[in-house]
Amino acid sequence: MTTVLNYVAPLDQDNLPSAKSGTDLIQIQGGKRLNGTIEISGAKNAALPLMCAALLTEDAVRFTNMPNTLRDMRTLTAVLQSLGAEVTAGPAGEMVIRAETIDDAHADYELVRQMRASILVLGPLVARFGEAEVSLPGGCAIGTRPIDLHLMGLEAMGAKIDLQDGYVRASAPNGLQGAAITFAKVSVGATENLMMAACLAKGKTTLINAAKEPEIVDLGELLIAMGGQIEGLGTSTITITGVERMNGATHSVVADRIETGTYMIAVALTGGTLRLKNTQLRFLEALVAPLKKAGVSFDVEGEDVIVHRNGTPLVGTDIMTEPFPGFPTDLQAQFMTMLTQCEGAGMVTETIFENRFMHVPELCRMGANITVHNGSAIVRGVKRLKGAEVMATDLRASVALVLAGLVAEGTTTVNRIYHLDRGYENLVEKLQACGAEISRIRAIE
Ligand code: EPZ
Repeated sequence: MTTVLNYVAPLDQDNLPSAKSGTDLIQIQGGKRLNGTIEISGAKNAALPLMCAALLTEDAVRFTNMPNTLRDMRTLTAVLQSLGAEVTAGPAGEMVIRAETIDDAHADYELVRQMRASILVLGPLVARFGEAEVSLPGGCAIGTRPIDLHLMGLEAMGAKIDLQDGYVRASAPNGLQGAAITFAKVSVGATENLMMAACLAKGKTTLINAAKEPEIVDLGELLIAMGGQIEGLGTSTITITGVERMNGATHSVVADRIETGTYMIAVALTGGTLRLKNTQLRFLEALVAPLKKAGVSFDVEGEDVIVHRNGTPLVGTDIMTEPFPGFPTDLQAQFMTMLTQCEGAGMVTETIFENRFMHVPELCRMGANITVHNGSAIVRGVKRLKGAEVMATDLRASVALVLAGLVAEGTTTVNRIYHLDRGYENLVEKLQACGAEISRIRAIE
């Protein structure tokens, strides 16, 4: 259900040409319980590295359960096509990528700046073609987002790295060599980039202090299906033995645990019962525990997760974000929204990114009582949030504001929702179908 209004977006640096549709906004009338069924999509944070892995072979790589409608998929598709790969996507989550030849191992700033994960083409390109030139991804709202661990690893494998004019140029004319690489801190992207590069390196690579996220395991399973020799997936030490060539494969993208967790928190806030399909509880133990403590109940029926809150008051609890299997930083903002409606207080400590509290001032404009000290925020529950016009700043802060609107008194308008379009397929439609009074106001071009 969309209403056409003549809406003019405030001018700002985010107003990228490709975000023209980003001047759309979401309007919510709070107070409706959520009851119904939601199909969970394939994970954005698995899909992005999986697509880059297709660069490792000249054969076709076929995917199902790909979240094709996400803006990030379209951006990465454009990056892969600019390199010379063929990418076709179907209406039901199918995608085929064929990087038979690469015209030009250059990933342009114009595209990379729209999505940092484009840096994940670096490892595969250097490993297969011996060279790559990728724009340095800028920082973003949540932090400086350096890539030093990616580059350190490639250098350890024999690549020559030059940084010039905002680009990273990596070359290994005689191919990459296996190496033992220890990460000073756990990095999802660096683990993914180097796991992919190591598949075509000569000899054995060991990644120590590697990330253990389910998306890493999903990528590793594709790489093994392509002929890669990988051990230790899901542990902090991953060993890859290089092979001569990688082959095509078919792979179904793992369910999006962050989308799953977001809807769990939504029904915790509104009350009601949601049946979440095509997902699994086992990736979300770090969220389920504090939600149970707050008063939410869970059942599993086959592949479905049923989440229920029967109106008993929510009770505040503390969380601290950590690498998997700890509490996911990508659910921190959403959980903070829930804490604003809990009895008592809860402490939120963000240990992964240096600036991931951008949702706090917007929640406070809705009446939340939140005090931030460095990397921690004390959230004291309030009677009820009040609807307001709020501004999205990054993907997860945006959805935290939508959740706040679902329970706030009156109308909430969330601006700059192009952030949301990056990571949530059909968010408005999925919530409308479960009883939320929510609509997307499409701007006139
Ligand atoms: C991935 O980002 C996810 N993105 C992020 O999701 C997620 O928040 C993050 O992992 C942590 O789980 C994708 O998978 C596309 P990191 P990534 O490298 O790989 C520092 C979302 O909302 N670091 O694990 O970029 C970094 O600054 C997004 O879906 C270095 O210092 O995250 C951060 O403090 C947001 N040097 C910490 O490590 C490096 O070379 C973790 O970053 C790399 C990272």
